[in-house]
Amino acid sequence: MSEKNIMSYETVALDDAASALVIINQTKLPDEVEFLHLTEQKDIWKAIYLLQVRGAPAIGIAAAFGVYLAAKRIVASDYEAFYEQFKAARDYLDSSRPTAVNLSWALNRMEQVVLANRNQTVPELKELLHKECVAIKEEDVWMCRQIGEYGLSLIKDGCGILTHCNAGQLATSKYGTALAPIHLGRERGMNFKVFTDETRPLLQGARLSAFELFADGVDTTVICDNMASQVMKNGWVQAVFVGCDRVAANGDACNKIGTSGVAILAKYYGIPFYVCGPTSTIDMSIARGEDITIEQRPAEEVTEMWYKKRMAPAGVNVYNPAFDFADHELITGIITEYGIARPPYTESLKEVFRKKQEAQKK
Ligand code: MRU
Repeated sequence: MSEKNIMSYETVALDDAASALVIINQTKLPDEVEFLHLTEQKDIWKAIYLLQVRGAPAIGIAAAFGVYLAAKRIVASDYEAFYEQFKAARDYLDSSRPTAVNLSWALNRMEQVVLANRNQTVPELKELLHKECVAIKEEDVWMCRQIGEYGLSLIKDGCGILTHCNAGQLATSKYGTALAPIHLGRERGMNFKVFTDETRPLLQGARLSAFELFADGVDTTVICDNMASQVMKNGWVQAVFVGCDRVAANGDACNKIGTSGVAILAKYYGIPFYVCGPTSTIDMSIARGEDITIEQRPAEEVTEMWYKKRMAPAGVNVYNPAFDFADHELITGIITEYGIARPPYTESLKEVFRKKQEAQKK
């Protein structure tokens, strides 16, 4: 990649001097690369809710920066007063979207810093929170790269890959999760033939995945969601890589609506179906996919958005769940930063966390 393009920019960043969260406004892509500098909590909340910043890891990082910025402004003479205001800001940001666990995961990490340091002064607490949010982002870069390495070990140069939604650099700090093997492969002179589902209704596949893959020089083809079966039947897909928003302890993997259908198709055509996600997206406290809260979004996203005129009768019922989950039985492997978990996931995911604990002891 020689010239500056979307891959050269940070999806989510902290401008500490300006006390601002800086994001690429993803609702404007691919037409316009607009940066938003957000200083107010209500604007950070709105940016997450409106998907100006989106993708599980990216919203976790944005929330961590957001709650740090809230903490920076707190005027409190003692710990209790500081914690009360911090907790209110933490809970407010946590209410912006329900499904991706990375949001509460990152906010919990930030809260733990406050809870574990009761003896520190307010300025010291603010400094510790700064360190933690920066670490959350840096760790995400490392996790994505690791996922890229493990993913790359599963595919051959030139093979066909199908992906759904955007689990790329725009959804993370760097590389992405599902798109990490593809971007990492590009760095090493490889190229894959990638089919990206457009991903109705918000078109993350067409607007975002195609945009970043194309910018990276990847052989990219956009298809409507209902074309995935045909492309698989043609023999053009050797592996499916998708991201995830919350993986349950049994391996059920919640991701953008439509993922479940893609997993069923892959099984039918005998194509390996891989879910890519860092441990920050695995929620061992949730037993199975059915227990995951699925975000419901406004009807207009289905009936009006993107169309020149309304495309469904006014007042018609609309069902618009933002996510579904791929049943664990359909998943060939879950690619994490600590290796590839294979069925039975009830065991292999525990093993992933054991490896993580071991690594953290070192
Ligand atoms: O509603 P979105 O665009 O935030 O949904 C994003 C997805 O479903 C991604 O696939 C998931 O967050 C993984 S991102 C690495």
